[in-house]
Amino acid sequence: MNPPGDHLDQIMAVMQSAFDPVFGEAWTRRQVEDSLLVGNCHYELALANEGCAGFYLARTGYEEVELLLLAVAPEHRRRGIARHLLAELAQSARQRGATRLLLEMRRDNPAGLLYRDFGFTPIGERKDYYKLANGSRADAITLALHLP
Ligand SMILES: CC(C)(COP(=O)(O)OP(=O)(O)OC[C@H]1O[C@@H](n2cnc3c(N)ncnc32)[C@H](O)[C@@H]1OP(=O)(O)O)[C@@H](O)C(=O)NCCC(=O)NCCS
Repeated sequence: MNPPGDHLDQIMAVMQSAFDPVFGEAWTRRQVEDSLLVGNCHYELALANEGCAGFYLARTGYEEVELLLLAVAPEHRRRGIARHLLAELAQSARQRGATRLLLEMRRDNPAGLLYRDFGFTPIGERKDYYKLANGSRADAITLALHLP
């Protein structure tokens, strides 16, 4: 998938506004471009009146789709945009023949509530997996959602 440059611009604008630099979770433009050039990744934008409010980026593997990035710009939050993007991801994953969604997140990320409400359950963890900008470490949790 080779996205038009304006889509990359919109993804990067949301990326820069959405992720707190202390956690080092934002991807560079090059990382996003490279992931899409490989051919097994896809994205979806959530459009608002004045442009892009959020996006997801996901990778398709054997019978599963992994959510790599999900972000909504701060001024558009708590309006159901991330939930809507997850629903689109689930639908697109089914169409790709996947039987489950996977993701990995930092423990304590409030996004965990969103995922839990959507039906994801924890299936594993990696202790101290993330190194934060302030030098501390955080556990990674892997969540999965079975797609009926
Ligand atoms: C996490 C994120 C994508 C949520 O986007 P959003 O559009 O605000 O989420 P939604 O409005 O769809 O939220 C749906 C539900 O999820 C839960 N939720 C979402 N964000 C939450 C938060 N910060 N704290 C607590 N619950 C939250 C709530 O139950 C919410 O429903 P409610 O608003 O009716 O209470 C957004 O906060 C974000 O971009 N964060 C920074 C990037 C990030 O951490 N991404 C996830 C990486 S794993």
